[in-house]
Amino acid sequence: MKILDRQEFSRQMEERVAEVEEIVRGFLPRASGTGVSENGDSFQKTIFDAMEYSLMAGGKRLRPIFIREAYRLFGGDEKAVVEAFMAAMEMIHTYSLVHDDLPAMDNDDFRRGKPTTHKVFGEDMGILAGDALLNFAYETALKGVGQARNKENAVGALQILSEKAGVFGMVGGQVVDVEMTGKSLTEAQVDFIYRLKTGALLEASLMVGAVLAGAPEEQVVWMEQIGACIGMAFQIQDDILDLTSTTEELGKPVGSDEKNEKMTYVTIHGMERAKEKVEEYSGQALEILEQLPGENAFLNTLILELIHRKK
Ligand code: FPP
Ligand code: MG
Repeated sequence: MKILDRQEFSRQMEERVAEVEEIVRGFLPRASGTGVSENGDSFQKTIFDAMEYSLMAGGKRLRPIFIREAYRLFGGDEKAVVEAFMAAMEMIHTYSLVHDDLPAMDNDDFRRGKPTTHKVFGEDMGILAGDALLNFAYETALKGVGQARNKENAVGALQILSEKAGVFGMVGGQVVDVEMTGKSLTEAQVDFIYRLKTGALLEASLMVGAVLAGAPEEQVVWMEQIGACIGMAFQIQDDILDLTSTTEELGKPVGSDEKNEKMTYVTIHGMERAKEKVEEYSGQALEILEQLPGENAFLNTLILELIHRKK
């Protein structure tokens, strides 16, 4: 299996993050020209500002990167189509963070090193910014569908995106997470929450890239399995960092799980076992990836690097 050295990986990662930022920026909603106030601003300017603030606040941009790498792995060549889906995915991810940080949920003041959207724009606009991002994500993905040569694949990708973001995916996981806060959880409940609230969008990212590129169904299922393993590893690492990192490094408050009385993988299994599990899940993801035809050294290295991520 091809693995990039640290320096080359960092270089390629920086390049890809910059690329995603440019893509996302390019898809930001624009003032329409109707409903403009005397100074030339749209009447609903606040929502454009809140959307831009939350979307452009930084972040690892992992999900769009996974879409593009999966698309590359299966030889996709329609740049405009995949980019619309990448932007849509980041919008859905960002909406989920904006809503997760609201006072009614985790009530966090910092995210990605900056004040959370509701802290800057008020709780009402925080709610609306999340709603707007979610809706605009579908408007954006549909631009990709409209341009796609193979409409069936594009609609299939849209179906995956919508399902994995909804009640059978991220929202479903978040519901159980919120409902079980302060209660004691079984191992199966923790697995369910992690698989859905964190795993679903990572699964969707790898699947969307593969489906858009025309990957065979069986291999799309493998991509889903890889995403599920990455999701578990990623969320357990999140729990570990919540206990071991600093607010400066993470860009969001540490000790959030304890503050919110959340049982995590670490509280159930202990730190050592949690660390082992992160390695195990990442190893499993790489094993499945190896079975696939084609090789993407950057993707291999990215999965490995997630084990050691510090933020
Ligand atoms: C951080 O991603 C996010 C997670 C680990 C997922 C947590 C799940 C939720 C907050 C679900 C919320 C759902 C609803 C419906 C409100 P990241 O580390 O990639 O963040 P980054 O983009 O800032 O780097
Ligand atoms: Mg939360």
